[in-house]
Amino acid sequence: MSDIVNVDYSTRIPNNVNLTEDRQVLRALERWHPGYIDWWMTMGPAGFQEALVYLRTAVSVDPKGWAKFDYIKMPQYRWGILLAPQEEGRKIPSGRHYGEPAWQEVPGGYRAMLRRLVVIQGDTEPASVEQQRHLGKTAPSLYDMRNVFQVNVEEGRHLWAMVYILQKYFGRDGREEAEQLLQRRSGDADKPRMLGAFNEATPDWLSFHMFTFFTDRDGKMQLESLAQSGFDPLSRTCRFMLTEEAHHMFVGETGIGRTIQRTCEAMKEAGVDDPGDIIKVRDLGVIDLPTIQKKLNLHYSLSLDLFGSEVSTNAANAFNASLKGRFQETKIQDDHRLESSTYPVLKLVGGEIKRVDEPALTAINMRLRDDYTADCQRGLDRWNKIIDRTGVNFRFQLPHVAFHRQIGEFKDIKASPSGALVDDASWNKEKDKWLPSKGDGEFVQSLMRQVLEPGKFASWIAPPRVGIDNKPGDFEYVKLAA
Ligand SMILES: [Fe+2]
Ligand SMILES: [Fe+2]
Repeated sequence: MSDIVNVDYSTRIPNNVNLTEDRQVLRALERWHPGYIDWWMTMGPAGFQEALVYLRTAVSVDPKGWAKFDYIKMPQYRWGILLAPQEEGRKIPSGRHYGEPAWQEVPGGYRAMLRRLVVIQGDTEPASVEQQRHLGKTAPSLYDMRNVFQVNVEEGRHLWAMVYILQKYFGRDGREEAEQLLQRRSGDADKPRMLGAFNEATPDWLSFHMFTFFTDRDGKMQLESLAQSGFDPLSRTCRFMLTEEAHHMFVGETGIGRTIQRTCEAMKEAGVDDPGDIIKVRDLGVIDLPTIQKKLNLHYSLSLDLFGSEVSTNAANAFNASLKGRFQETKIQDDHRLESSTYPVLKLVGGEIKRVDEPALTAINMRLRDDYTADCQRGLDRWNKIIDRTGVNFRFQLPHVAFHRQIGEFKDIKASPSGALVDDASWNKEKDKWLPSKGDGEFVQSLMRQVLEPGKFASWIAPPRVGIDNKPGDFEYVKLAA
């Protein structure tokens, strides 16, 4: 039997890949382990390593009921190697090798390209832990504190997932890359993380929730495309990571939803009708909706950059080599090779934003990004429903894809959130209406106070509708060290 649904916890490194019989990889992982713990102790949640946190740990990879909840100190979390079960007779779902049996070993000619994909994905995982390491100190409740820690330990596990692939399939190069993943640091001038959004600060909880909504969702899309890889071990790893990722986006979506809820309720209670009356709204100890919109504009645009250039030969090569596929590739009705089809891309043509048909192969990033935008929009629709239910007159909107971009077609121009091209002078005049200003940041920061009493929440966020693991409202999700 090649798969184990249940996880072996008898080894130092929990796994369902039969590590006890894979001595070489087990040894490589055991050598890497102390460096990982070092990294976790210095770059993981600051000030909470001794706290008992009510965390879920994966005990199987069965989609139903894979988790067990218990109090645990984070450094003792059982990080491990978990792959979705091998699919009998799986065929490569796209690209030049469409229809061939999925590869169980790295295809020789694609070694470097594949390693690069794994390293880029792997680099994002510890980066977000580094970005979020100070949030515990300002957690608006024990419930929220537990959620950020859960996300953090799982991002740590995602690093393990990528390191396993590197160490098992890429020999010495892989081991070196695994080391490097512990050396780079988010925001560091000399050895930064590889992607822009992962070097930005996460200074407050509104940023954290926006990050988990927008940037973890980019992560989901990247994992979805790697889950379609012809290289089966990568596909299986990513499929299990996706089940964990769902919780991260839940944290983001409900975190923002509860923030919106609280703002609207406070406005109603105080009889403030105008969402734009920022002074009055802020006086209520809640975050005004226009500021939330500006944060949304920032995080959405930063996350769009993570998809890379709209038209990209790298992306075409990876798809063509069958190393990654499109979102839900197997559900798409076409030839899955894309050698002759086209895809519409927004581009800058003669100083105007125009829709241009590009070869579908080179527009592969664009397609994934469009699927991402649609997924984001569904979340915004749910937020807007929360506002509607309270009777406040306001709607959130995703900004235009040309707005505030650092990568791709629109990186050299300035555009408003509605997609109108503007000159530098009007950008500078308007930008504080479109993106969070220094004052907005300071105001949000002023609300960030740690709340430690079980069942209590900071002024700016509503309690969740249900607890984690169905626990009651006053459950003590984190027991701080005495
Ligand atoms: Fe992750
Ligand atoms: Fe995540």
